[in-house]
Amino acid sequence: EKGGYDHFMLKEIYEQPRSVRDCLRGRIYPNEGRVQLGGISEFAHKLKNVDRIIIVACGTSWHAGLVGEYLIEEYSRIPVEVEYASEFRYRNPIITEKDVVIAISQSGETADTMAAIEMAKEKGATIFGVCNVVGASIPRLTHAGAYTHAGPEIGVASTKAFTAQVTVLTLIAFHLAQQKGTLTSSKLTELLTELDNIPQKIEKALQSEGLIKEISAKFKDSRNCLFLGRGSGFPVALEGALKLKEISYIHAEGYPAAEMKHGPIALIDEEMPVVVIATKNSSYEKVISNIQEVKARKGIVLAIVTEGDTEVRKMADYCIEIPDASEAFLPLLATIPLQLLSYHIAVMRGCNVDQPRNLAKSVTVE
Ligand code: F6R
Repeated sequence: EKGGYDHFMLKEIYEQPRSVRDCLRGRIYPNEGRVQLGGISEFAHKLKNVDRIIIVACGTSWHAGLVGEYLIEEYSRIPVEVEYASEFRYRNPIITEKDVVIAISQSGETADTMAAIEMAKEKGATIFGVCNVVGASIPRLTHAGAYTHAGPEIGVASTKAFTAQVTVLTLIAFHLAQQKGTLTSSKLTELLTELDNIPQKIEKALQSEGLIKEISAKFKDSRNCLFLGRGSGFPVALEGALKLKEISYIHAEGYPAAEMKHGPIALIDEEMPVVVIATKNSSYEKVISNIQEVKARKGIVLAIVTEGDTEVRKMADYCIEIPDASEAFLPLLATIPLQLLSYHIAVMRGCNVDQPRNLAKSVTVE
């Protein structure tokens, strides 16, 4: 059932061109500059006038939420707050019937996310679910929702479910932008045409596996690892770090690249691998200075770069290329090499990648 792969995780990583495609199916009409998201249409009026959106989730799904915040604010100009469900539910948050809460959960069974939904519902908020498992508890608790259609995810560390969540949030952001008129239809056509092509680009990103394996061999005995990114590259860094710690048991932290100088830079020495999301987008020049700061302290830099990059290549110890894309789609592509990196490091360390110690697929305890 692993389809010829050594582990479910690797199989699921390789399923992503298809799972993202399945997630987009019937939902985008590039030529018309239109997004069709069944569940959300009933709330189109409410969403158009909403003052803010609150996203609640845990773990990897929370990282998808952070990407969602970036995309929704950027394209629809609606303020978004992203909360850990476990914190949100216990801190008497201010919620009114004007609020829309987006709850993200692969399993649809996470206890804290369910409790956060129930609480927000009691206060009159409209709840929209983004889940993968059809018919799970969360989709039954919400007013409306959109499934991620990634198919069953067996590996405990979430991979294809994450990219499908990000895909749905991208669709929500574009849908809201279309409703609010914050994106022109020609710009929407352009973005949707590009989104339609993202599965092929993911396919291309997967072709770096051989190189990633070689790099993994150099990093496998590290005790720590930092992941840095800016903008939507920051949640990608957090997700890269979470994947590495979950399955390889290497201590890893994700940071916004500019925060490094406010503390974590003290950790950098010749033994510290630093993975940097350094693709060509609005923060490119700034990220380059962050790489220089790491190199000046002899850190080992692995950069995720845009195909054909020469600038970063001059400085970084290792580079992994991903296809060029608009900033909106950076998380969908930059995540791929980080998944493969943690996978290969974990395999080389002899870890049980599909069932890491102490972890369960659904966290039904609070
Ligand atoms: C990490 C991982 C967990 C889950 C978290 C939430 O790889 O899988 O961090 O993302 O437990 O689970 P769901 O999305 O099922 O609510």
